[in-house]
Amino acid sequence: MKDKAQNILFIVGNRPQFIKIAPVLKAMEQYPELNYKLIHTGQHYDYNLSQQFFDELKIPPPDYHLECGSGTPTQQFIRIISGLDELMKNERPALVVVVGDTNTTSAGAVWSAINQFRLAHIESGLREWDKSIPEEINKLLTDAVSDLYFCPTQTAVENLRRQHVTGKIILSGDPGLDLLFNTSSPESGENLLSKWNLKVSEFYLATCHRQINTDDRERLETILTLLSTAGKPVLLSLHPRLAKAIIHFDLGSYLRDHNIIACEPLGFRHMQTLISSCDKVITDSGGLVKEAYFHRKYVIIIDRQTEWVEVVREGKGQVVGVDFTGFREALQFQFKNTTPSLSLGDGNASAIIAAEINSFMLSVVN
Ligand code: UD1
Repeated sequence: MKDKAQNILFIVGNRPQFIKIAPVLKAMEQYPELNYKLIHTGQHYDYNLSQQFFDELKIPPPDYHLECGSGTPTQQFIRIISGLDELMKNERPALVVVVGDTNTTSAGAVWSAINQFRLAHIESGLREWDKSIPEEINKLLTDAVSDLYFCPTQTAVENLRRQHVTGKIILSGDPGLDLLFNTSSPESGENLLSKWNLKVSEFYLATCHRQINTDDRERLETILTLLSTAGKPVLLSLHPRLAKAIIHFDLGSYLRDHNIIACEPLGFRHMQTLISSCDKVITDSGGLVKEAYFHRKYVIIIDRQTEWVEVVREGKGQVVGVDFTGFREALQFQFKNTTPSLSLGDGNASAIIAAEINSFMLSVVN
């Protein structure tokens, strides 16, 4: 039986975290002597935001499920921390690993810091420089108490250096992209598209779930107006937060507009097929910005900024917010992308992360 103190605890709870942890856990197989456990906080609980990804990406079932469910961010935070506290009856981790910038991330980080557990942060160092964004607060809290910083980009490394963090900064690249580099090209879009009567390159793919866009009726209606007048059909994947907002603000008539085709949140591979088959991506999701970049699709960002600054800097996308003129111009932009896009990672992030975790664990044991 291995010493409990040699455990590694990976904490995840949201869709983008399941996507990023899948290749990391696979890479951990290179180190069978390491003993790790997986905790699902339960922040995402619907089948199509959670179990669908465990099944499709073959993520081992979690060792613990905290079932924090929905609620205000404070309620979620408290439930996650109390759930983690319960675990301390059985676990004293040598290393806790959190991912991204959600309430699950910051709750895991604060719990680790309070209990003096060493902490690794995957997708560290990204900044939007705006504390009114909940995800920015989660990023700042987590990076303030981490020991190992796994950065997806050189910009993230520089952001951390500028903030003088203590701990080891590692440029790993983005593990979510490893899944794309290491899978054969996505299935032909035609079969999947026939479900909605869409044709390759003749539709836009859209998602929208950030609080800034969903919690304000006027802004959400502007977005739905932009989509419904885009000139090509828009396939809109409905995050539960967006679905609830549309019902709450009585904006359902936009989804009956023939230009917007609403669909349930899709699995990872189907989503990649749609990105690679669409004309352009319209989104406020960081994950989709990265994936559009990988698939060489122009991305129109309906947010105030993006943490994936490389995409905009390299001319592969633009931030338009909800500006009509900017949105129209971006839709009409003739985009020809022939250069490989490697600024966000080259497919080896998970191997780098697992190797660093192994070195860290060896240093703890020795
Ligand atoms: C969270 C993250 C965001 C990430 C996103 C990915 C925070 C602050 N935000 O936002 O960084 O990009 O996940 O999806 O943590 N809901 C369901 N079913 C579910 C999950 C949520 O109906 O399975 C509902 C909740 O009840 C709530 C809304 O969706 O009304 C928002 O859920 P929440 O957990 O706050 O996270 P996201 O908006 O998904």
